[in-house]
Amino acid sequence: MKRAIKPSPPVILFFLVIFLFTFSIISVESRKNQERKSRAHKQRKQRNDNGPDSANFPGPAIFDVFSFGAKGDGVSDDSKALLAAWKAACKIPGATVKIPSGFEFLIKPITLQGPCTPHLVLRIDGTLLALPKVGSWPKSSWFQWINFKWVQNLTIQGTGIVDGQGSNWWSSSQTDYIQKRSKHIPDVKPTALRFYDSSNVTVRDIRIINSPQCHLKFDNSGGVKIDNITISAPKNSPNTDGIHLQNTQDVEIQHSNIGCGDDCVSIQTGCSNIHVHHINCGPGHGTSLGGLGKDKSVACVSDIVVENIFMQNTLSGVRIKTWQGGIGSVKNVTFSNIQVEDVKVPIMIDQYYCDNNFCKSQTGAVAIRGIKFDQIIGTYSVQPIHLACSNEIPCTDVDLINIQLKASSSKGYGGFEQALCFNSYGKSQAPLVPSSMDYCLRGGGSVKRTASSHENIC
Ligand SMILES: *[C@@H]1O[C@H](CO)[C@@H](O)[C@H](O)[C@H]1NC(C)=O
Ligand SMILES: *[C@@H]1O[C@H](CO)[C@@H](O)[C@H](O)[C@H]1NC(C)=O
Ligand SMILES: *[C@@H]1O[C@H](CO)[C@@H](O)[C@H](O)[C@H]1NC(C)=O
Ligand SMILES: *[C@@H]1O[C@H](CO)[C@@H](O)[C@H](O)[C@H]1NC(C)=O
Repeated sequence: MKRAIKPSPPVILFFLVIFLFTFSIISVESRKNQERKSRAHKQRKQRNDNGPDSANFPGPAIFDVFSFGAKGDGVSDDSKALLAAWKAACKIPGATVKIPSGFEFLIKPITLQGPCTPHLVLRIDGTLLALPKVGSWPKSSWFQWINFKWVQNLTIQGTGIVDGQGSNWWSSSQTDYIQKRSKHIPDVKPTALRFYDSSNVTVRDIRIINSPQCHLKFDNSGGVKIDNITISAPKNSPNTDGIHLQNTQDVEIQHSNIGCGDDCVSIQTGCSNIHVHHINCGPGHGTSLGGLGKDKSVACVSDIVVENIFMQNTLSGVRIKTWQGGIGSVKNVTFSNIQVEDVKVPIMIDQYYCDNNFCKSQTGAVAIRGIKFDQIIGTYSVQPIHLACSNEIPCTDVDLINIQLKASSSKGYGGFEQALCFNSYGKSQAPLVPSSMDYCLRGGGSVKRTASSHENIC
């Protein structure tokens, strides 16, 4: 005969506690969402009750996302409204898509596509929020959150915030779990704002924060102007570049504050005529060209000026990094008036770049020619300068002019190291401090090399 199992009172109590606990968490969450919704509702109503003003009675060229069904409560999905406003504005010359201040708009991964009529403006005064949970991002959208594609002559501006809500992406346990469940996903996390095949784009005044990975990325683009923006993410957020450029020409980045977990500005292959100036950078990895030439790939970078930069508490200051075995060249680069404070290694060329411990040595390298370091001044916490050029293809026309670097008072781990310079040719001009830098460069310009076919490819 079967005996009925009777749960003892402590067991019942246990389940009761668990049940109440779960229930209270769920209800707190939904109450929060309810509150957000009703708050946004009230504010929207107020906007309408305030009577006609220029904001509420827009001219025909203003496309307010609220007119396209946005809720602005930070919980409802407002991506369809944004997309609809974009599509409508795209057809009208000089139109503005408006994202009003005082509201939060939850936006799923979307593509805002051109071509549009000229002088389109995307005015972000409110806050755009990305999906906070990794698991709710569709797999196909892991490359970026907001994707601008084939746009020309667009301006993004406003006092608003673009918030990638990336914290869940930064802890590897979360993404490992998702990656294991769905094979074939490369190790990629979304970029917050990405421009693809676009030209004459201006991004100004806005703040971009906490992206899962890159904050602002341009590839296959040209004619980019970035002015007065703020990018921020915590120091311990992995791979969160500030501004990332690839195959992009004619760029000016100015008057901005960038602090994140990886490079403040990262310049990759196919970039030329890039001017970066008046930037505060830190925390992060500094401003980098590369890594270039990975897996014997071709890299061409030229005509870069990085000047009037203040770097604080970064891994490197200004650096060029290339993988062994690459093809192509980095030419005509000036780093000037770089003020550094507590920067681990302010000046760096690393032609042995390897982001793991298993890079075998390879022949060939991306050639490095015509690199000027001028007025690099301040404090370092590990090593003042590190020029590790390729064994086979020396770096040539490297100029060191007025370098004054002192060991910082906050000592780096393992103490300070001397200047390291290998196979680098060029000329230097006093003052050079510390004096271990005096013999960094070999024979001013005396090395005459004809460019190999490997670098003429650029
Ligand atoms: C972009 O700007 C350049 C000048 O800076 C101009 O020559 C070019 O026609 C513009 N292109 C577009 C698509 O607006
Ligand atoms: C758009 O083009 C016009 C000239 O055609 C130019 O004045 C304006 O600066 C351009 N806007 C952007 C964002 O490039
Ligand atoms: C810079 O952007 C902020 C908004 O983020 C704005 O208040 C300020 O006026 C802008 N400054 C300039 C010089 O445009
Ligand atoms: C080097 O780059 C600067 C800035 O882009 C440019 O003005 C200059 O003409 C370039 N020099 C050479 C020799 O190409």
